[in-house]
Amino acid sequence: MKRQIKNNVSWVGYIDWELETFHGDDYSIMNGSSQNAYLVEEGKTVLIDTIWTPHRFDFVENLKKEIDLKKIDYVIANHGECDHSGALTALMAEIPETPIYCTAQAVKSLEGQYGKRGWNFHVVKTGDELEIGNGKKLVFVEMKMLHWPDSMATYMTGDNILFSNDAFGQHYAVDELFNDKADQCLLYKEAIKYYTNILNPFSNLVAKKIEEIVGMGLPINIIAPSHGAIWRERPMQIVETYAKWAAAYQENQITVAYDTMWEGTTQIAHAIAEEIRRQSPETVVKVFNVAKADKNEVMTEVFKSKAIVVGSPTVSNSILSSVAGWIEFLKQLKFKNKKAAAFGCYGWSGESVKILQEKLKDAGFEVVEENIRAFWKPTEEDMAKIPALVKSLIA
Ligand code: FEO
Repeated sequence: MKRQIKNNVSWVGYIDWELETFHGDDYSIMNGSSQNAYLVEEGKTVLIDTIWTPHRFDFVENLKKEIDLKKIDYVIANHGECDHSGALTALMAEIPETPIYCTAQAVKSLEGQYGKRGWNFHVVKTGDELEIGNGKKLVFVEMKMLHWPDSMATYMTGDNILFSNDAFGQHYAVDELFNDKADQCLLYKEAIKYYTNILNPFSNLVAKKIEEIVGMGLPINIIAPSHGAIWRERPMQIVETYAKWAAAYQENQITVAYDTMWEGTTQIAHAIAEEIRRQSPETVVKVFNVAKADKNEVMTEVFKSKAIVVGSPTVSNSILSSVAGWIEFLKQLKFKNKKAAAFGCYGWSGESVKILQEKLKDAGFEVVEENIRAFWKPTEEDMAKIPALVKSLIA
């Protein structure tokens, strides 16, 4: 069922209450999600994006209940990823001649995924415009690498709506559609998780793009992303928040992340947390066993942190695979402006701390020399080194 966003603009997407993971199993979904598609019915009828492949037939059937598909003058594909383009195959089978407006990279992406189907692509670049009648037009803005090479946003004049696609979105099922109706805590939590896990690697580009969009001087009354809540109440709040997040964001928080074999490394983890509380009561402390905690949630806490402390015992001359995999993901997210320290127990060769330090440096962290390397179980002597380690992190 289409739901009005403003004047002749409606939401025709899919609220995905049952989605549990995204990007395969790489992103955990805790509060549902949505794939937002939009229908503009001015002098011209325009469909902006579609929904994920498994729901493509329902999408087309539902759309048919709202309009004669042949009335669609233009399809806008802001992004080729299949959570937004997945219903194009079913849709274009019904209206094969209808022009699809997208970036040159999106043509490659769509043809790469769905094959060359002879779709009527119209390639657009930043600043290109499309008249849609009633004195209104669409203006296209390339959003290269936010978060794919093909990404773009579409701005609608008159109603001043920015259809931003993935940017400013959240994996969060908001049945009420709008940010002012959503649970505010969940909205913030899901927006920062989305930024951390999907957009943070591209923070430099986010900062530049925000400058560019603000510099275009377009009045923005609504930001309509392709996932989660539509920002109609103070829409620029999320743009301002993105600008803050993109600038090597940190709060007064330290996150301890570790895994353990026989709890020695766990003891050190909690002793470090206790010492942070003692030395700096204002600092928020979070402690996670990375083998058990959700990695996307932990990374969001890392994003908020000014420092992290990472622990693993030595196993087979290396570190636990849980920690190794976690650090690989940490590296991918390209955090900036954060310190790190390492700790861990060992019984034989004892390489884990050195390996952790090297991997953390490689992941872009400023690694302090202080570390805790405990033979079998942490002794009082080992624990006595913790205050110096914490001091170097909170300095
Ligand atoms: Fe929501 Fe990049 O797809």
